Order: sequence, then structure tokens, then C-alpha cells
Amino acid sequence: MGQVYTVAVLVGSLRKASINRKVANALAELAPASLTLEIVEIGELALYNEDIDVDPPAAYKAFRDQLRASDAVLFVTPEYNRSVPGVLKNAIDVGSRPYGQSSFAGKPGAVISVSPGAVGGFGANHHLRQSLVFLDVPCMQQPEAYVGGAATLFDEHDKLSEKTRPFLQSFIDSYAAWVARHLG
Ligand SMILES: Cc1cc2nc3c(=O)[nH]c(=O)nc-3n(C[C@H](O)[C@H](O)[C@H](O)COP(=O)(O)O)c2cc1C
Repeated sequence: MGQVYTVAVLVGSLRKASINRKVANALAELAPASLTLEIVEIGELALYNEDIDVDPPAAYKAFRDQLRASDAVLFVTPEYNRSVPGVLKNAIDVGSRPYGQSSFAGKPGAVISVSPGAVGGFGANHHLRQSLVFLDVPCMQQPEAYVGGAATLFDEHDKLSEKTRPFLQSFIDSYAAWVARHLG
């Protein structure tokens, strides 16, 4: 059996019925055998504050440990006000510290934005990429993934639309190749 890489998946929505979380779960199922996707929860992270980071809260430590233990990082996010939801930006800020010990550095990444709107979260997707440049996360360029019209992606049994499945399959297959290229 070949190398298997662990991918930390950060979902930019805390909603129980989040479409982005459903997409993250669908990607975990579609992923080839070389990738294991695990959602890393971000909802319990206190708003980043350098004062409390002098003696980091348990949630900060657990989050950083989970990121460090993973080989790669995948972002699945909605767009809030044409940008990255605060909860996801907060998680990025927590993971990026202590200074010089970022848990993200060098981990091959990818971004998929998912929105019921027509532009598919383009603004969030690209604002996120701006942070990833600084965090030294080599981010997959193609295929770009701005998934719009997402209200109908899943039926009432949470089954993924057959129309979108091939795109998500090609996205995760390309990401597996990207990860292998960087870590193999
Ligand atoms: C505060 C807020 C801001 C939003 N801003 C945008 C936006 O800029 N662009 C967009 O396409 N959708 C926007 N939406 C709609 C979200 O894309 C929609 O709620 C989506 O379903 C959220 O993803 P989720 O289903 O994974 O929770 C916004 C929603 C909220 C709550």
C-alpha cells in the first residue's frame, strides 16, 4: 500500500445544517485511498488574544496539536460579506501562533468555497488565499472551486447531487496529486 496522508479539514461554518460541512463530508467519502480527511473543529476556539496565549487555553493547544499532526490542510468555507467568515479567520490566527511556530507552515492546502449565491464564494476564497501566502501554505491553483447555487447540492437525505459529484471528485483527486507532489 502507498503513502497515506492525513488532511485537516477546516469548515468555515458552525451551523448544524451547514452545506459546507456536508461538502466536507462528501469530499471525505470521495477522497482516494491516499488521503484521509478529518474535520478539525474550530467552534470552541476563544477569539484570538495575545494576552491569553501567554498561557494558551486547552482548546488552542488541542487545535494546534491536531494541525501539526496532519500532513495537509483543506479549507471548505462559505463567504460572509464577500470575505472569510470570522470563525475561520480566528482559527487561522490561532493556528498561526506562537510566532515562528505556525502549525500551517509548509502543509499543502486547497480552498473550496460553497454558497447558495451565484458567485460561489469567490471573495472568501481569494481573501483566504491571501492569508495562505503569508502562512507558507502551498495552495492548489487548479481546479479553482467556487461552488454556487449550493442550496440544491444535497437532497433531503443529504445525498450529493449527481450533477456536482464529478466536479468534487476531480477536485479531491487533483488535491491528492498536489499533496503527493509536495510531500511524496
Ligand atoms: C453574516 C453572513 C454573511 C453572508 N454573506 C454572504 C456573501 O457575502 N456571499 C454569499 O454568497 N453568501 C453570503 N451569505 C450566505 C451564506 O453563503 C449562506 O448562509 C451559506 O449557506 C452559509 O454556508 P453554510 O450552509 O455552510 O452555513 C452570508 C451569510 C451570513 C450569515
